[in-house]
Amino acid sequence: MNARREWLKTTLAMAAGLPIATGLTNQLMAAPVSKAERDFFGMNPLLPPMKIRLASNENPYGPSEKAKQAIQQRFSEANRYPFQAVTEFRETLAKHEGVSADHILSGFPTFPMLMTYAEAFKATWDKVNMNDQLAYDYDAVAKQIKDDTRLVFICNPNNPTGTLVDPAIVKSFTEEVSKKVPVFSDEAYIEFLDPSQQMSMVDLVRNGSNVIVSRTFSKIHGLAGLRIGYIIAKPDIIRKIQRTHPGIPNNQLAIAAAHASLGDTAFMDMSRKKNAEARKILTDYLDKKNYFYGKSHTNFVMFDAKTDAAGKLAQLAQQGIAIRVWDYNGMQWLRVSVGTSEEMKAFVKAYEELKV
Ligand SMILES: Cc1ncc(COP(=O)(O)O)c(C=O)c1O
Repeated sequence: MNARREWLKTTLAMAAGLPIATGLTNQLMAAPVSKAERDFFGMNPLLPPMKIRLASNENPYGPSEKAKQAIQQRFSEANRYPFQAVTEFRETLAKHEGVSADHILSGFPTFPMLMTYAEAFKATWDKVNMNDQLAYDYDAVAKQIKDDTRLVFICNPNNPTGTLVDPAIVKSFTEEVSKKVPVFSDEAYIEFLDPSQQMSMVDLVRNGSNVIVSRTFSKIHGLAGLRIGYIIAKPDIIRKIQRTHPGIPNNQLAIAAAHASLGDTAFMDMSRKKNAEARKILTDYLDKKNYFYGKSHTNFVMFDAKTDAAGKLAQLAQQGIAIRVWDYNGMQWLRVSVGTSEEMKAFVKAYEELKV
């Protein structure tokens, strides 16, 4: 089994060797995670342009107006290297996270690269299956940790299942485990939770724990195309990663847009609210048709395909609707990102009319 494919459907504890950030690629974002996708993309290298893009958990409302204005204003600085912008941005992020700037590193590579780098450095990694509700089983993850485990990866809410584990459980797990092994907490989807529920593991970083928190501007901020995100960790971890980090992590426009988006609660509130409304169109349909799905707290839903996932993928793609297919636990699963309400209605209609 291909490791990258495997990790997306599982939680994991990685053994022997921290992954090192040496490069960037977003190719893996589109990497097939099922036989249905491998066959389909193998036979259809040139797909028609997708009209309804429900495959990459993007925010259909972004970038925000503030981000667009910031990009326009910064455009004339495009001739300048972004040294100063990176430094200022780091300070802004530090203030936002309640840490000092030496706890911040922006421009971290996209998430499946953790596994890729681990393999490149001859590390092995273990997966831990989800429970029957498609949620992390933190007891099972804890049991999987061995003497030579060097990093434990967690993601809450999780991709591709969309499920959430009570952040209090995640926090006590992280606090305990990080005494022995660094814990990497991917919080890409945390802003889709109601602000009162957004319990980040950054608190533990502030306490000096061995925890690395990652955040992205690709999701609620709607900046996936600009490629900008960051990690928060103890300065010694940041320094270690920085040694092999690509020189200039972000470009002027991405920094300007991210800077403008950071405190834009109106845009985030709007995105969260519209996402919940549109998600309900999909889950109402799944409920009506008795589909089993992970209870989503994010901008995507993963459900049991029941029948012929490959046929569904192909027929939807021919209509310009992009989704993903996963093989997991001997079953086939469809993951559908939440677009606008109109897009979800169009998806439901197209799905209902599939000939499979
Ligand atoms: C689990 C997880 N982490 C992080 C990201 C964000 O990746 P990036 O910042 O490279 O767009 C995603 C995006 O799909 C994700 O699903």
